[in-house]
Amino acid sequence: MKIQDKRVLITGASGGIGQAIARELVKHKAKVILTGRRQDVLESLAKELKCDFQVCDLSNPTELDKLIETIGSIDIYVANAGIPGAGSTFDLGPEEIDRTIDVNLRAPIHSSMAFAREMAKQGSGHIVFISSIAGLVTSPTTTLYCATKFGLRGFALSLRQELSDKNIGVSVILPGFISEAGMFANAKVDLPKVTRTKSPQDVSKAVIKAITANKAEILVAPAELRFGSKLASVFPYLAEFVQNSRSAREAAAKLQQAQRNVK
Ligand SMILES: NC(=O)c1ccc[n+]([C@@H]2O[C@H](COP(=O)([O-])OP(=O)(O)OC[C@H]3O[C@@H](n4cnc5c(N)ncnc54)[C@H](OP(=O)(O)O)[C@@H]3O)[C@@H](O)[C@H]2O)c1
Repeated sequence: MKIQDKRVLITGASGGIGQAIARELVKHKAKVILTGRRQDVLESLAKELKCDFQVCDLSNPTELDKLIETIGSIDIYVANAGIPGAGSTFDLGPEEIDRTIDVNLRAPIHSSMAFAREMAKQGSGHIVFISSIAGLVTSPTTTLYCATKFGLRGFALSLRQELSDKNIGVSVILPGFISEAGMFANAKVDLPKVTRTKSPQDVSKAVIKAITANKAEILVAPAELRFGSKLASVFPYLAEFVQNSRSAREAAAKLQQAQRNVK
């Protein structure tokens, strides 16, 4: 789908990756609408990019319904908002579990189906979901995050098949570790020396490619991580083996600790 003059809604637009996606879409002359919870961040970005914004807490079903109704029809939807849901079986409470599922999975499912019904009436559209490499590879410290990101990937790829005869494209982006901005960069955790990262701009460029070339899935990660994660998704014992190394366990534990209170 061409991007110029298309009406686009981006969730999580106040965050590291969301801001990069918004900037890239505006560069491609889309009519962007930003959404997130932090009004001050959205307001200043909207001013800079000369676009609209709507404040919405996606974990609140009433607010989500209101957002869907207010936005009405759009041409492109980028479901990017997400939280780490960090914590173990022994310290995550029911509210935290439900909030992570609501933000990372419930909200993108409800909203994309609602927007897809409008896109079907218009005769075209494109939906992009930001999952994660954690939608392919498991780890002992990202149980809840992996559950939502695997779920989002499965939903996206199935929805793509369901909507293909309606001229609605669906893509899923799987970023690896993203430096400079976003939830991993904010955690300020050093990775094992061999692990390379990508930038928020790499993710935003992948979003453009996904929309313009109707790509099913794009991994935004260095070659070794792309190859390793695909392999680990077919052979789960391989993921267990790699995650068991001392350096991987230490980095994962530090990341879990740093993201523990991100809500
Ligand atoms: N950074 C990485 O290394 C990485 C890697 C793989 C995948 N991802 C995925 O990329 C996406 C963007 O993450 P990021 O790195 O940019 O993280 P981020 O900087 O923490 O941004 C998260 C965004 O989600 C929004 N959000 C969180 N809870 C919300 C809620 N209840 N209602 C509405 N919006 C909410 C935040 O908005 P407010 O705070 O304004 O509410 C913010 O805009 C996520 O889906 C994440 O899982 C990131």
